[in-house]
Amino acid sequence: MSILRRPVNSSRVRRSAKDEVGRQALQALQSQFSRPEREAVLARAPGRLNLLGGHTDYNEGFVLPLAIDRSVYVAAAPRSDDTVRVYSVHFRTGAVFRLDRPERDRSATWSAYVQGVLVALRAAGIPVPGCDLAIAADVPIGAGVSSSAALELATAMACLRLAEAELPPRDVALLCQRAENEFVGMRCGILDQFASAFGQQDHVLLIDCRTLACEEIPLGDKSVCFVVMDTKKERSLVGSEYNERRAQCEQAARLFAAVLPGVRALRDVSPEEFERHKAILPELVRCRAEHVVYENQRALDGAKYCRAGDWAAVGELQQQAQASLRDLYEVSCRELEALTQAAYGAPGCYGARLVGAGFGGSACALVDAGALPEFAEYVAREYERQIGWRPEIYACRAEQGAEVISEGRTGEPETERDL
Ligand code: GLA
Repeated sequence: MSILRRPVNSSRVRRSAKDEVGRQALQALQSQFSRPEREAVLARAPGRLNLLGGHTDYNEGFVLPLAIDRSVYVAAAPRSDDTVRVYSVHFRTGAVFRLDRPERDRSATWSAYVQGVLVALRAAGIPVPGCDLAIAADVPIGAGVSSSAALELATAMACLRLAEAELPPRDVALLCQRAENEFVGMRCGILDQFASAFGQQDHVLLIDCRTLACEEIPLGDKSVCFVVMDTKKERSLVGSEYNERRAQCEQAARLFAAVLPGVRALRDVSPEEFERHKAILPELVRCRAEHVVYENQRALDGAKYCRAGDWAAVGELQQQAQASLRDLYEVSCRELEALTQAAYGAPGCYGARLVGAGFGGSACALVDAGALPEFAEYVAREYERQIGWRPEIYACRAEQGAEVISEGRTGEPETERDL
């Protein structure tokens, strides 16, 4: 990993006063920690949607995400000691930890992502100082659109700048994934962090999660909308169920490797090979593997259809993906089913599937832009009739990945006595 020392005030830094949520982060830094804006670095990182390629990333396969125009913002000011104070505008609460004592407080929830990133930066040899951090977001929290990776990336970008260091975006994404795997204990793949780091305005990304090669597919066609449909259901057991799915996939890959030399991960098994050899897998593991092998193919086919602007074909694949996530991978739930089924019957819908780990959270629909209001009204009404409460439905644009928005002149760092 290369560390480039870089001067503070680089010309690449863009000032943007119109960023309302960024303002909230800066104001919280001032109100909670008495750190004025002129001392602050402000960084932003977006959430993501994933059109196809659900649970393929940790099988070294392909994913087809876009970064969305909803982000986490981190305002940061350096301290002269090893203390980190962090405040969340959303949770209206804060946490304090020390960089020289990198143990996780088991009761920490959102702040564990922040601490994990800081611990990983230090472990990578980056001289991150103690700091005061304030977080604000317009990406819905815990709703399956990757608010945690956005928090990790925004924290990493802000703290790298405080350290006057720079890493290639690929290394920042990998470092954040490592923080989540090792510090938080969620064995996630690279999808969320990579999409948040590499998002491109008006582009979908095709990412090869083995080589990390990333193709940017332009979205010339403005007649299609990416719509998030949030179940408003708390996700439960995501971590344990997720890690269990991952272990089942690893077991399937090991069993296939015994009959198919060269198989390292399920990504190496083609649909034909799967059909020929599937009898060697125990039933549950076979179901999990069947989802992954075909879903990987769907991500590749979906990229082809995105290039051609064939949204009906992408939508058809999304419907197949949703059925597979429900029946074979078993990560859907009643609420996600109600939302996706309502979407299929709604005006202007090409297709829909759950995004993220599943078990609640959100689904993503591809919708004809002209039919958006009728689509949203229809889905909300149907969902409420079946489930008893309204979902949240909003359209997203494909947005730029993580960035430092502004940085103040580094003033006198705070010291221990300010605690
Ligand atoms: C979560 C994980 C990702 C990915 C998705 C499922 O969002 O963080 O790495 O595995 O679930 O596609």
